[in-house]
Amino acid sequence: MKNPIETERLLLRELLLSDADGMFELDSNPKVHLFLGNNPVKKLEESIEYIHFAQKQYKDFGIGRWAVILKETNEFLGWSGIKFITDEINGHKNFYEIGYRFIEKYWGKGYATEAGKAFVDYAFNEMKVDALYAYADAGNENSRKILEKLGLQYVNSFEYEGETEVWYEMKNPNL
Ligand SMILES: CC(C)(COP(=O)(O)OP(=O)(O)OC[C@H]1O[C@@H](n2cnc3c(N)ncnc32)[C@H](O)[C@@H]1OP(=O)(O)O)[C@@H](O)C(=O)NCCC(=O)NCCS
Repeated sequence: MKNPIETERLLLRELLLSDADGMFELDSNPKVHLFLGNNPVKKLEESIEYIHFAQKQYKDFGIGRWAVILKETNEFLGWSGIKFITDEINGHKNFYEIGYRFIEKYWGKGYATEAGKAFVDYAFNEMKVDALYAYADAGNENSRKILEKLGLQYVNSFEYEGETEVWYEMKNPNL
């Protein structure tokens, strides 16, 4: 297992099966899924399956979405991190994407931006990836704001799975 990352308020670590209840609280909320295809999970088993999927990604690619924990209380807030995407999306294939998803009661506290900054730093300085990409529903203003705060730049709009999405990228400034 990779070493956790610490930020001012957060602990970022690989997802564990003990995060299943938190993942279910996150993904069963229709508001969380408003810009994610409107298909919230219905059963705890689906959240357990997601954790197994993330753990397979750690094994296959050395990286995947990680749990975000509030250091002060040890609460599970949601997930963030880097995913290696092998599908073709907007003309890209086999690329590193940054993403985040937080339990609704923890929105508006800057946690997504704080975790995201740590993962941008990790991707460029530890993993030494050439570039980081992200995409979001064009109407997901909160997500777009975070991407801009993280230093990613808007590239183009495209259609994906019946939705208009926006594509962002950031090249590794060290290379
Ligand atoms: C997208 C999502 C992660 C955004 O969460 P968020 O809490 O709004 O984002 P941040 O953590 O960056 O918080 C930003 C807000 O916290 C406020 N804030 C409060 N305390 C803060 C602090 N200490 N530091 C920084 N910002 C703080 C900021 O002012 C900012 O509000 P503003 O944008 O109105 O100015 C969240 O809405 C979510 O999980 N949505 C569902 C899943 C989703 O859509 N994911 C993205 C898919 S592409």
